[in-house]
Amino acid sequence: MSTRTLIRGGLVITAAEELHADVLIEDGRIAALAARGTQAAAAWSADRVIDASDKYVIPGGVDAHTHMELPFGGTFASDSFETGTRAAAWGGTTTIVDFAVQTVGRALREGLDAWYAKADGKCAIDYAFHMILSDVNDRTLKEMDLLVEEGITSFKLFMAYPGVFYSDDGQILRAMQRSAANGGLIMMHAENGIAIDVLVEQALQRGETDPRHHGEVRKVILEAEATHRAIQLARVAGAPLYVVHVSAEEAVAELAAARDKGLDVFGETCPQYLFLSTDNLAEPDFEGAKYVCSTPLRPREHQAALWRGLRTNDLQVVSTDHCPFCFTGQKELGRGDFSKIPNGLPGVENRMDLLHQAVLDGHLTRRRWIEIACATPARMFGLYPKKGTIAPGADADVVIYDPVAPQTISAATHHMNVDYSAYEGKQVTGRVETVLSRGELVIDQREFTGRAGHGLYTPRATCQYLS
Ligand code: URP
Ligand code: ZN
Ligand code: ZN
Repeated sequence: MSTRTLIRGGLVITAAEELHADVLIEDGRIAALAARGTQAAAAWSADRVIDASDKYVIPGGVDAHTHMELPFGGTFASDSFETGTRAAAWGGTTTIVDFAVQTVGRALREGLDAWYAKADGKCAIDYAFHMILSDVNDRTLKEMDLLVEEGITSFKLFMAYPGVFYSDDGQILRAMQRSAANGGLIMMHAENGIAIDVLVEQALQRGETDPRHHGEVRKVILEAEATHRAIQLARVAGAPLYVVHVSAEEAVAELAAARDKGLDVFGETCPQYLFLSTDNLAEPDFEGAKYVCSTPLRPREHQAALWRGLRTNDLQVVSTDHCPFCFTGQKELGRGDFSKIPNGLPGVENRMDLLHQAVLDGHLTRRRWIEIACATPARMFGLYPKKGTIAPGADADVVIYDPVAPQTISAATHHMNVDYSAYEGKQVTGRVETVLSRGELVIDQREFTGRAGHGLYTPRATCQYLS
């Protein structure tokens, strides 16, 4: 049965414009927008009317970097697809792109099928997958072509984590050459993991076992060097490149230099690098373990370069790299040896609010907020305009956002399946009020009304920034 929903009286914000308009939703899609007070808007009738007076009406967030249930560091990320996508919805995100993992020695197909099975019937919001390449060889290179045809159009490679996900430069070059031919986008974890492992060993030998040493051995220079090397390998291959979780000023400079040359090089940063720092890693009583992730948090001075990169479009996307591990029983695996702390932070629920706070703090405009959190990730990963905007024909993934509601971020009130918040006690202004996913209410005036299984797997086109 056809359902019509009318969102009345809000300020519609997309990456392109801001408009006082009413939004008509029909059969799960945006049917029309009409400027407030026009005859067209007044004539609309609907089964359900949502009053958005004094609120923003924004596209649902697209988080292009999550790790639900990731096996890592001897344990598993603590959010399942069910709990993680529910938390995402609470935070105004209506699409995630999660990373399916290839096990070394196994086919991509096997890893991908395992991820389809994990997510199937569990998600509250729509989802798609990238593929982590842990073992680049002749067979997996051929498989990449099949995955691109199937809608898995991006592949993450690691210059870090030797013995786990690491690829050497030869493997990276081969995967890039393949992606240049098949239209895939290589996503790079750019840190020199071989050098880092030497520094880890030396630090532990000196008795430097606390979480703060995680940040000290994973040096800025080793992020910048790997970023530079990844860019040169992509040039040799004639392939585009997307660098994930950029944290260091010097890495942003490498991206900016490449983009100034006209190369198809893109960069993502994450809220933890914009709002947290090595001060958090240095928190006493092993509390710093809560902030162990890679690339690591950097000294506060790097934040200005990240904000600048977002303003100048040297960085295009803010994703969360949501990879939660509980403090009790998981982060604690690294007591006495920082290298055994599972790497990753929770954040899928906090991204839209933190970036809205950045608007209030003067770092971003409202439209840029929507661009880096919704429209660009959708375009980058072949989901636009189905996702990432409010326009006729788009999926009706819509958030009614209260821009003046105060909130204090806390593990006591969040919905992620993790026993701490990386932003505990932080006060922000702005809060998600209502969330629709394909026209269905998932959050209704701060009450969860969604269900596991509503979220659908969404195959993707190739990157929409490449001709
Ligand atoms: O620390 C992190 N980022 N954990 C997740 C895996 C990755 O490298 O993205
Ligand atoms: Zn990574
Ligand atoms: Zn990640």
